[in-house]
Amino acid sequence: MKAAVLGYGTVGGGVVDVLFENKDAIASRVGEEIEVKYILDIRTFPGDAHEDLITNDFNRILEDKEVKIVCETMGGLKPAYEFTKSLLEAGKSVCTSNKELVAAHGPELLRIAKEHNCKYLFEASVGGGIPILRPLLDCLTAEKIDEITGILNGTTNYMLTKMDKEGSDYADVLKEAQEKGYAERNPEADVEGYDACRKIAILASLNYQKTVNYEDIYTEGISAIDSRDFAYAAELGMNIKLLGMCKEIGGKKYALVAPFMLSPENPLYAVNDVFNGILVHGNMVDQVMFYGRGAGKLPTASAVVSDVVEEAKTIGKASAVKWSDEKVDLSDKNELEFGYFVRINGNPENSNYNELFADAKVIGKDGITGEFALVTGRMTEGEFLKKYESLKDAVKFIRIK
Ligand code: HSE
Repeated sequence: MKAAVLGYGTVGGGVVDVLFENKDAIASRVGEEIEVKYILDIRTFPGDAHEDLITNDFNRILEDKEVKIVCETMGGLKPAYEFTKSLLEAGKSVCTSNKELVAAHGPELLRIAKEHNCKYLFEASVGGGIPILRPLLDCLTAEKIDEITGILNGTTNYMLTKMDKEGSDYADVLKEAQEKGYAERNPEADVEGYDACRKIAILASLNYQKTVNYEDIYTEGISAIDSRDFAYAAELGMNIKLLGMCKEIGGKKYALVAPFMLSPENPLYAVNDVFNGILVHGNMVDQVMFYGRGAGKLPTASAVVSDVVEEAKTIGKASAVKWSDEKVDLSDKNELEFGYFVRINGNPENSNYNELFADAKVIGKDGITGEFALVTGRMTEGEFLKKYESLKDAVKFIRIK
């Protein structure tokens, strides 16, 4: 069976490596060998072991009837969207790690694939090397899933872990994550939470079988998190993680992405470095956790190749994945309940915090100069924000899961 790879960057290079390195194991699962016939890239790679496979002509792949499966590892919308559409229309299945494209055009591409008896597969678009989409769609099928909460971005988790455990500087750890090949081309997508937002939009859409528009999801990143937040978190025995979550409460659906303080009882507390963790709560099974490397060349490539194997084993059969373009109306996140960690300039004696958060616990009086902090009880975000607006000399707040 012949395959092609679009984009010979970090993930594309990994896909080629996995397909060559694990050729025999893959062949024994599929029943025949999967051969990479083309690698598409606009760059040249003189001296590369697969130089002979590299082409800059997309039409060669599109028009080659032998090529049945194409791995799209280019990332971004242009030209990946047009290329994917043309390939699916030509009856070629596409396996991708491109969460941007899946979040923006998933239902349309799934429909085109179905119409042409091929598949659009995107296991690698969420959680890097972690199997999460197939388990969600094929295994947790007896469940009503009412919550999915995850650490969905490897770069920010790597950064937060280094800041927590080594007191590292934000800019230095971002550079390290980029060097390790975890970060997006524009790291704003990682640190501002946009990447996690697209991933939770994909998970929520597959769960609800309709479209959760990523632009409707309230999103905060980690760029405002600093060493003082970690000092307070340490005092509380907690750490700070960027979470993406979707929740259904009383028929209302919610989604958000934001940094949270977590206590050690939460299984996501122990998810460190580039690892991602996804907690799925079903009404029968209770909690199920998925854990593994959320970014990086070979883990992400492994997930793409798992889709190649899936397709090779079921070629000619359309996908049964249900994801319509009917929009999910998300409810206001201000209706959700959390606890809150709040930093305030000055000292407790001169603050009006008592009038607003009477039952709050005060921390940080001794360790950190010029300010103190509160841990509030649980309340709706709407109620909290109203009080927070009236709080004098507030510096910032972080939600507590
Ligand atoms: N930049 C992404 C991350 C890559 O750090 O998680 C994997 O999607």
